Amino acid sequence: MSVVISGTGAAVPQEKLTNADLAELVDTSDEWIVTRTGIRERGKLPLGQATSDLATEAAAQALISAGMSADDVDLIVVCTCTPDMTMPSTAALVQRNLGIKATIPCYDLNSACAGFVVGLEVVHDQLLAGRYRRALLIGADTMTRLMDYEDRTTCVLFGDAAGAIVMERDDEPSGHRGIVATTIQADGRLWDLIQVPGGGSLKPPSPYMFTQREHYLRMNGRQTFKFAVQAMEQVSRDTVERAGWKLSDVDHVVVHQANLRIIDAVAERLGLGRETVPINVARMGNTSAASIPVLLDECHREGRIHAGDRVLCVGFGSGLSWGAAALVW
Ligand code: UT7
Repeated sequence: MSVVISGTGAAVPQEKLTNADLAELVDTSDEWIVTRTGIRERGKLPLGQATSDLATEAAAQALISAGMSADDVDLIVVCTCTPDMTMPSTAALVQRNLGIKATIPCYDLNSACAGFVVGLEVVHDQLLAGRYRRALLIGADTMTRLMDYEDRTTCVLFGDAAGAIVMERDDEPSGHRGIVATTIQADGRLWDLIQVPGGGSLKPPSPYMFTQREHYLRMNGRQTFKFAVQAMEQVSRDTVERAGWKLSDVDHVVVHQANLRIIDAVAERLGLGRETVPINVARMGNTSAASIPVLLDECHREGRIHAGDRVLCVGFGSGLSWGAAALVW
């Protein structure tokens, strides 16, 4: 028995926020943003739309790509830290939007930017346990809603998008397709490096919270950067080893698109060439849980990933949390 990826989809808002746009809002420049992050523009979802709209579009595309209809889906999981509302789950809204049958489980999973790799392990294990056959795993975030457009250290980094995959249990796998090994880890002692302090149960919405701008994302970029590089290197090595592979066996390493310098540093430490590490951060910015599935969808649609290729997905985010999944496409 194995769990394979049988379709991919993505949704990115048409409206873009360029570095020039941001330079009109805060004291920054295209030169600084490109040199320090590699980002040139990021999608911005207009007000009136929400994470579930992006998630629905990405999921619909993934179903088409898998040659499936809504009735084939047994489970929907949306990885997000920017749900439409605190409740209901974004996954339930996707189910409603796609007209998927009313009895299946739908839930959200929040591990911020690491959400998608956490979702890969959780859904893999749920399918392998035998209760469900086909799942929609969606990474979707509207990060621009969490940006403080007075804080130049964070607002230049993030964008909005959703990516989706169809995961399917294959009872009689032909060849060796499917997920081979997953790892997910967290260190809650580092909870305060990336946080949105207000709006939850600790600091519920109040006029004071808004004046303190606590409903926006705050990040210690420098410390996060150092930890992210080391954690993603280590989890990549561990996961590849547990898959029984060598790093040189991997055809594509799909790393969370937070910052080109982080991606380059991880690739260098792992001894990977640029051709092994696809990159779209220049056009997308950091789209949190959407980053890996959007890039997987791009690689799949462009014909860059072929059946039988070995793929390693590596994520990192608030928690701090991180993880990786090794799979044969
Ligand atoms: O997905 C979740 C995980 N998140 C991440 O992985 C993000 C990790 N961190 C980073 O990507 C980088 O740390 C940043 C891009 C956030 C910052 O880059 P950095 O090279 O670490 O810069 P820094 O924070 O050390 O700041 C260097 C200087 C500072 O000025 P001083 O103190 O040297 O005078 C900042 O105030 O750059 C300044 N600065 C800016 N200048 C122009 C910070 N942001 C900006 C800006 N424009 N947007």
